[in-house]
Amino acid sequence: MDLSDPHTLRTFLSVYGTLPRAGPGGDEHTLRALSLVPGDPPRTVLDLGCGPGAQTLALARALPQATILALDVVPAMVQETERRMRQAGLGDRVTAGVGDMAAPEVDPKSQQLIWCEGAIYFLGVSRALNLWRPLLADGAAVAFTEATWFRPSPPDELRKWWLSQHPSMTDDAGVRLAIEEASFRTVDSFRLPADAWWDEYYRPMLDRIEELRARLPNDPAAAEVIASAEEEIGYFRRFSDWYGYTFFIVQPAGTQS
Ligand SMILES: C[S@@+](CC[C@H](N)C(=O)[O-])C[C@H]1O[C@@H](n2cnc3c(N)ncnc32)[C@H](O)[C@@H]1O
Repeated sequence: MDLSDPHTLRTFLSVYGTLPRAGPGGDEHTLRALSLVPGDPPRTVLDLGCGPGAQTLALARALPQATILALDVVPAMVQETERRMRQAGLGDRVTAGVGDMAAPEVDPKSQQLIWCEGAIYFLGVSRALNLWRPLLADGAAVAFTEATWFRPSPPDELRKWWLSQHPSMTDDAGVRLAIEEASFRTVDSFRLPADAWWDEYYRPMLDRIEELRARLPNDPAAAEVIASAEEEIGYFRRFSDWYGYTFFIVQPAGTQS
């Protein structure tokens, strides 16, 4: 799919840019992960790959003393995050901006928490943690979700499809190893249930697919977006016990708790 073509990007965003979340998750999981972050409630939070801002909103409400900077590389996602924050009356504590999570423009050692739901795979776990370490204040933590295999030896068809989406996908132990390779330690982790894929992601996506099919019945870009979304959902329907998302809460190794 050529997202550099403006019509294809608009069509893509008409499905993915208007969902409650742009990936699997849910407020209860965001809040559970936040409860596992060691130390005092963080006052400076960087939310990377914020998408439409669902987890940003949950974090902002749960951390009334915090200022949050939410970054995404897609301007439409940033606008949606800004809109949600304004609507919730949180515009004074939450700033949303267009930015690259590989190089967030914040001061060294300034962030008490870095959050990254559904986006760390763009960088890879070790690389991301290495890039973010200099931004972390003493005692700070990073929380992220990553797609993982839940069972060994997945069916070939499924393994090949995931390899095409996420070539470095591994299991929970593999992610823990990547965390150690970056000289971080895993504080805690938990797997998201299948509901976290349906409630705010795939079920609304199915509605958007139907809207798009009705609005642009003969449009090649729409057909491509629909086919790709339906393929992804189809794999999850058939194979959701083989893979899922795991939340990891990590700190630089040697952090005093
Ligand atoms: C799967 S979505 C998850 C969004 C959101 N965290 C959520 O869970 O709803 C991944 C997001 O990462 C963003 N993204 C991809 N590469 C990025 C980069 N280099 N810097 C910042 N954001 C990026 C995408 O635009 C997308 O909004």
